[in-house]
Amino acid sequence: MSATSIRTLDKSGNEITSVGFQRFGFNCEVPLESLRSLYLRPHYVTVESTDDADANGVKQADQHAKFTQASAAYQSKSIYHADTHSISYTTLSRFPPVILLPPTQRKRILVTGGAGFVGSHLVDRLMLLGHEVTVIDNFFTGSKTTVSHWVGHPNFELVRHDVVEPFMIECDQIYHLACPASPPHYQFNAVKTIKTSFMGTLNMLGLAKRTKARFLISSTSEVYGDPEVHPQPEDYWGHVNPIGPRACYDEGKRVAETLAYGFHRQDGVDIRVARIFNTYGPRMNPFDGRVVSNFIVQALRGEDMTVYGDGTQTRSFQYIHDLIDGLIALMNSDETRPVNIGNGDEFTIGQFAELVRDIVEKVQKEDGDLPKRKVQIAYKPMPTDDPQKRRPDTTRAKEVLDWEPKWTVRMGLEEMVRYYKAKIVEGSM
Ligand SMILES: NC(=O)c1ccc[n+]([C@@H]2O[C@H](COP(=O)([O-])OP(=O)(O)OC[C@H]3O[C@@H](n4cnc5c(N)ncnc54)[C@H](O)[C@@H]3O)[C@@H](O)[C@H]2O)c1
Repeated sequence: MSATSIRTLDKSGNEITSVGFQRFGFNCEVPLESLRSLYLRPHYVTVESTDDADANGVKQADQHAKFTQASAAYQSKSIYHADTHSISYTTLSRFPPVILLPPTQRKRILVTGGAGFVGSHLVDRLMLLGHEVTVIDNFFTGSKTTVSHWVGHPNFELVRHDVVEPFMIECDQIYHLACPASPPHYQFNAVKTIKTSFMGTLNMLGLAKRTKARFLISSTSEVYGDPEVHPQPEDYWGHVNPIGPRACYDEGKRVAETLAYGFHRQDGVDIRVARIFNTYGPRMNPFDGRVVSNFIVQALRGEDMTVYGDGTQTRSFQYIHDLIDGLIALMNSDETRPVNIGNGDEFTIGQFAELVRDIVEKVQKEDGDLPKRKVQIAYKPMPTDDPQKRRPDTTRAKEVLDWEPKWTVRMGLEEMVRYYKAKIVEGSM
């Protein structure tokens, strides 16, 4: 099945053909196909050799062709040489078309952590909309490849920079996303994570103060810790262990919020605080230990899916395009209070594992692949401080942003399975 022939239905059963909307004087709508052509785009095209068929007799070049039909003019022309297992890199033949905005509407937007999972999707959207985007990133968890399709574009700049050091630029809006987000990454160097949260946010708020740019921080549902209130509204103060292994991230984000409100009250900095709940989608690092990527990769490889605990703990998952809609709506609104952005559809981890297994089987069947074996679910002990239950109360987002998630978990998962499958076929995963 090609990327163009995937039919995606929203929660009400209507087909999704575009994402975004016109709200607060800012239009963030783009065709879904334009975005898909960026993340389902192969990293290179394969030069056929005589022995490039896999065990099922499927030619790799045919597999790649499935993902190249959309916006073929904008696909990477880098070439994979099967014989020598090497890639000849080149720039894109042509950049994807971006809207031609008049200078009065074109914003200069800084995205810290823009080479990460969330950041790269935000960059794609802002670029397609015709804005000038600068990404600063130290590539700790992000990668240049997530935004490489924009490198060289006159509206785009990519700077290797660590946010714990000050950074000077002229800009109108700052999306401050730089911070490792998955437990293995943020626990890898706990002191650095706290420094990034505190000093990085301090530096970016200082920049916002100097330039009078509007500042949005990507906070997290982790500020609620292991909550005693369900679902969690924004005025719940949380239940966080300040000395546990997750504290470097949870307390880091809490102090980052405190800093933002300090600059707001003291210096009049125009702040926005997004408390993001579990989000998933293409470009998520497949090996960062987050539950969605773990399950999909294990199921695609025919390995057992690992559930920590007894599988009764619940989680809610939102799809990346819903999050980007929410972040852009919040940035352009007048709301300075924290706003939860998440999907309230709750699953037990056990149910979720079964759903992922079903979708992987469905996609494999549609593509004519024979699964190696029926994937089983394996249970392992629960890690320390893993919250039992987490679900957003998104009443405020609905009231003040007129935002609510559109993507069903099933539809988002299906797209993500196709993305990982393409990466496996491509050999880059
Ligand atoms: N993905 C989620 O489910 C989720 C949930 C809640 C909050 N968030 C927040 O959203 C933001 C983005 O998360 P993500 O999932 O894209 O994570 P990610 O790890 O994919 O992206 C983070 C990016 O920040 C960069 N970075 C890290 N430390 C840096 C530093 N000191 N200087 C410059 N760049 C640095 C990384 O290299 C990476 O590109 C984070 O602030 C995270 O806390 C994400």
